[in-house]
Amino acid sequence: MSDQVRFSLSDKDIPKRWYNINADMPVPPTPVLHPATMEPVTPDFLSVLFPMELILQEISSDQFIDIPEEVLDVYKLYRPTPLLRAVRLEKALGTPAHIYYKYEGVSPVGSHKPNTAIAQAYYNKAAGTKTLTTETGAGQWGSALALAGSLFDIAVEIYMVKVSYQQKPYRRIMMETYGAEVYPSPSDRTQYGKALLAADKDNPGSLGIAISEAVEAAASSGGKKKYSLGSVLGHVLLHQTVIGEEALMQMDLAGEYPDVVISCIGGGSNFSGIAYPFLRHNLKDGKKTRLLAVEPDAAPSLTKGVYAFDYGDTAKMAPIVKMHTLGHSFVPAPIHAGGLRYHGMAPSLCALYDAGYVEAVAVPQLATFEAAVQFARTEGILPAPESAHAIRGAIDEALDAKKKGDKRVILFNLSGHGHFDLAAYESYLSGKLQDFKYPADKVKAAQADLPKVKVPA
Ligand SMILES: Cc1ncc(COP(=O)(O)O)c(C=O)c1O
Repeated sequence: MSDQVRFSLSDKDIPKRWYNINADMPVPPTPVLHPATMEPVTPDFLSVLFPMELILQEISSDQFIDIPEEVLDVYKLYRPTPLLRAVRLEKALGTPAHIYYKYEGVSPVGSHKPNTAIAQAYYNKAAGTKTLTTETGAGQWGSALALAGSLFDIAVEIYMVKVSYQQKPYRRIMMETYGAEVYPSPSDRTQYGKALLAADKDNPGSLGIAISEAVEAAASSGGKKKYSLGSVLGHVLLHQTVIGEEALMQMDLAGEYPDVVISCIGGGSNFSGIAYPFLRHNLKDGKKTRLLAVEPDAAPSLTKGVYAFDYGDTAKMAPIVKMHTLGHSFVPAPIHAGGLRYHGMAPSLCALYDAGYVEAVAVPQLATFEAAVQFARTEGILPAPESAHAIRGAIDEALDAKKKGDKRVILFNLSGHGHFDLAAYESYLSGKLQDFKYPADKVKAAQADLPKVKVPA
């Protein structure tokens, strides 16, 4: 086996600019609406939650945006991340396909999330923000923002979904080690949390509820606190494009160009991060790379959601955006262990999917863990359950290439490692994890509560 497996760049190759899809969107943007008035939001409304630089990035139509020196300095801690060819996995599958993966798990917290957390902390610091509030599910995003807050000297207040807070202490301890304050959500620190606890003191929480608490904590702080979101918004996707810009250079080093780029989707940020730079070449240079998003059967926003205006959070405090949604009150079954639980999806990604520029597939949980284990046993890295969805997608592509005798070039994003997710692996290995039916009734009930907006849908 003499094939080169690792394609490395040096510090000086870290991209100096993020790629902004707004400049090249082949479909018109949809408006962002105020959650109460349902009119298009103004920068004034958004400025309660975000610093102006991030709001400007959200609406910018510049094709590239310079990455500030201070952000590049921190990126140097772990970027450029490696790109590897999975030759052992190829061999195990007996496929003629070449499988490449970009590994974001080398960041200090083990995922792609710091790419935006560092940028958001920098712009907030520059704007004088003293405290950032945010939500986290199992803790990947929370640890990234906690790290970024410690590097830029900003306090970080994290609302962590209660059931994860209780069952997954290690990420919480990591966030606290970086200096963040972590509260189980629903908490008694917000009006919304108090109301939920009054109705049910054992409310296990959800991502949508934690977002509502973090938004309320910032919005009611009299300007002292701002809110930070780890996915979905345009500026988050923008910051993640360092992944794809590096991957373009690394595929060049490998002397190949991908036929298909694959990634998992929760809110869409790591997918957009790797895929949008390749989409630019599709749109501008006539390349024909397929872009494939992989989601869990348990929360299949793209493949089963309706494309409609919906709230970003459960308490209807976050802006309303047009997206593929399962309904803002949707919560996947507790038995689902693979993450990627958000009810909606990044608006730009939804618009691209709706217009046919992006493909999507939903995969069941057992097949996802089976792919993760096969990857660990051949390539050595134990993937985050979220990232395992991308591996499932990549293996299925490689097996399809084998069936058709194609020499397909596959690139996928390995968004993080799963060293804090061993309980999920234990459940899988001991046979406790199960597949379950698509929760059609739950989705139907959640979708009955979509806002009735006046903008043409
Ligand atoms: C390791 C990892 N990958 C992927 C995701 C999905 O998020 P996104 O779609 O924003 O990349 C998460 C989110 O929690 C994550 O922790």
